[in-house]
Amino acid sequence: MLVNMKELLSAAEEGNYAVGSFSVANMEMVLGVIQAAEELQAPIILQIAEVRLKQSPLSVIGPLMVAAAKGAKVPVAVHFDHGKTKEKIGEALALGFTSVMFDGSHLPLEENIAVTKEIMTMAAPYGAAVEAEIGCVGGSEDGSEDIAINCTKPADALRFEEETGVDALAIAIGNAHGNYKSTPKLRFDILEEVERITKTPLVLHGGTGITPEDFVRCAKTGIKKINIATATFDSVENTVRTCYNNHAINGYYDLQAAEVEGAYQNARRHILIFGTDHRYTGE
Ligand code: 13P
Repeated sequence: MLVNMKELLSAAEEGNYAVGSFSVANMEMVLGVIQAAEELQAPIILQIAEVRLKQSPLSVIGPLMVAAAKGAKVPVAVHFDHGKTKEKIGEALALGFTSVMFDGSHLPLEENIAVTKEIMTMAAPYGAAVEAEIGCVGGSEDGSEDIAINCTKPADALRFEEETGVDALAIAIGNAHGNYKSTPKLRFDILEEVERITKTPLVLHGGTGITPEDFVRCAKTGIKKINIATATFDSVENTVRTCYNNHAINGYYDLQAAEVEGAYQNARRHILIFGTDHRYTGE
């Protein structure tokens, strides 16, 4: 069932776990992620970032994501990730996305606050949640830019929360998008301080390559949404390659099944690490 992201994040706060937010690029990935969520009775978030719309147009994949969420047997929020333009954020809201992110992490704090508030005004009539980012998560969602990590200042997080009342806040604690060159050293001192002084559910971007131990520690320290993109794409690609190597693909529909399987395995693994399995018991 399609739900608002706020619902999922407040349940995660109560249960002290984090919800996986899985990036998808096509129908096979949507089906694989939902299959894992249904099997494990896990609430999840499906997302697509604005930079990915070149390959997967919003007018095509957006309705598909919303329809898949509506048909799912578990709660699924549909999220627009790293929104950059008001135009595309508005389109996502009109398509029925239940949350949108405005990524103003590259802007001065005052401007980031001001634009985030405008996006919240846009989202309000739809009842949709809004996520913002302060500090800079490294890399970029599609790997096209090499953005340096700029860790969030806890005082900025508090100011941002007070001035915007945003629903979810992505913070930078040494995390980066894409595959890490070496195991990331997350700044738990910063995370602990942000958690101590703020109340907003926190979001961890750049989930690919973070160790299971660190995921669990994050989920127990205020992180309520964890974004996974590259790991899904890699899992789909590797599963397809392995199936070809094993001569297990004979025709298009075997290829399609391998793609679903790759997305399913990756989502399943992360749902179990995040502790989101069996959190949905039905009403
Ligand atoms: P990864 O590609 O590192 O998993 O990052 C995902 C992400 O944060 C999307 O916003």
